[in-house]
Amino acid sequence: MEIKKAVFPVAGLGTRFLPATKVLPKEMLPLVDKPLVQYSVEEAISVGINQLILITGRGKRAIEDYFDRSFELEHILKERKMEDALKTITDISETAEFIFIRQKEPKGLGHAILCAKPVVEYEYFAVFLADDVIIGEKPAISFLLDVYKKYKFSVVALEEVTWDEVSRYGIVQVKEIEQDVYEIVDLIEKPTKDKAPSNLAIIGRYILSPKIFRCIERISSGVGGEIQLTDAMKLLLEEEPIYGVKYKGRRYDCGTIESFIKATVELALEHEKLGKDFRFFLEKLIQRR
Ligand code: G1P
Repeated sequence: MEIKKAVFPVAGLGTRFLPATKVLPKEMLPLVDKPLVQYSVEEAISVGINQLILITGRGKRAIEDYFDRSFELEHILKERKMEDALKTITDISETAEFIFIRQKEPKGLGHAILCAKPVVEYEYFAVFLADDVIIGEKPAISFLLDVYKKYKFSVVALEEVTWDEVSRYGIVQVKEIEQDVYEIVDLIEKPTKDKAPSNLAIIGRYILSPKIFRCIERISSGVGGEIQLTDAMKLLLEEEPIYGVKYKGRRYDCGTIESFIKATVELALEHEKLGKDFRFFLEKLIQRR
C-alpha cells in the first residue's frame, strides 16, 4: 500500500511563456537556481517516492537529459575539484529512478495520466503538477499521504481560492470529516462562478487509485476539448470514496508569467546564499523608483 510511484505530466506546450518556451520546455525555466520541475521532483523524493514517471511530449528532450547522468560534465567538475557543483548535478539522478513516457498528442491532464498506466498498473500512485510549487514546513504531499494511510482511498490537495478564481480550477463539493480533511461529494472542472459548488479548489497534488485509469478510458473530452482528470474522478467517486485535505504551505502557481516572477522574487529573498544581497538590492531599487 505504500506509495512508490509518482506521475509528473510535463508535456504541456507552455504557450503562456512564449517566446521563452519556443525551444526550452517550460518545466526547465529556472526558478532562482533550479528548474521549475525540480521543486516537485524533490518534494516526491523527500517523502520516499522514488519511481518518478514523467509524461513528456515533443520538444521536451531537455527534461530527460536533465535527470540523466552527464558523464562528461561530471568528469570535468571532478578534475576541477568543483565538488559542490558536482553534487548538485548528481544527487537527484542517483536518488530516484526516472521513467519517461511520451504523450503523443496534447489531449489534456486525464490523457497524460493515462499514459502512465503501463508502468503504474494496479498500485495507488501520486501525481504532481509541477506548476504548483508549494513551500512549507512539511512537504505538501505528506498531508495527502497521512490521509491516504488513514482512509486508504484517493486524496487530493485542496485550497480555498477567491470566487473570481474558481473558473481556473477543479472545484469540489465536500463534507468535512476532520479538521481540514474532507470527503468529496462532487467535483467539477473549471466551473463558472455561478456553477461552482464551493470555492475549494483542487491543487496540483493527488494520490490516486489505480481504478482511475479505467475511468479515464471511459470519459470523453470535457472543458477545453481535453480529457479532464476531474471528470474521471467524478466517475471514480461512483465506485469508491475520494478525500481532500487542505495542506499547510505557500503555493506559487507558476503557470503564468506574473506568478512565476513573484515566485522568483520571493524564493530568491529566502535563498540561503543569495537572499541577503538580493534583499539589499531590492530595497535600494525600490527606494530609487
Ligand atoms: C489542472 C486541473 C485542475 C486543477 C489544477 C491545479 O488544471 O485540471 O482540476 O485544479 O490543475 O493547478 P490546469 O492548471 O492544468 O488548467
